[in-house]
Amino acid sequence: MLETNKNMENFKSFENQADELGSDEQKAIKAALKAVKNSYAPYSNFKVGASLLLENGETILGSNQENAAYPSGLCAERTALFTYGASGIKSPIKILAIVAFDKNDQQSPTCSPCGACRQVMTEFEQIQKKPYKVVFCYEGKIEVLDSSVTLLPFAFHF
Ligand code: THU
Repeated sequence: MLETNKNMENFKSFENQADELGSDEQKAIKAALKAVKNSYAPYSNFKVGASLLLENGETILGSNQENAAYPSGLCAERTALFTYGASGIKSPIKILAIVAFDKNDQQSPTCSPCGACRQVMTEFEQIQKKPYKVVFCYEGKIEVLDSSVTLLPFAFHF
């Protein structure tokens, strides 16, 4: 069943109905689940995986990478987006998928991106001049947002 999330009308919510997702969304989620295996999160024990599904069918993976000097670490979403940027691949992003697990490898009830990632997500959408979907995989729930830009009103620009 496809439901509209009550809190954010532009979210589509899939309650335990992963089969109803489009094949692109499923491919992006599978890639994010692969990505999270390479999370390095010994300090927070919060493991995050992100994937980008590109228009050419390629997937780019990212996971959070922590460091003993805490602020030196990087979130999964930005790891994926900067890997994409640095790769020079020009095929536009279709989907960014995010998954998160706790220290017991239980799927997290939330994986909402931090503000810094939202800023970066927004700019990549502006660069390609077309929206990409953001897919959030929570515990027992998958939500799809049609554009990353709505996640950050009043984004920084200059
Ligand atoms: N983290 C992400 O990877 N993505 C987010 O959007 C939020 C937080 C990571 C950073 C850190 O390694 C851990 O989750 C706990 O904050």
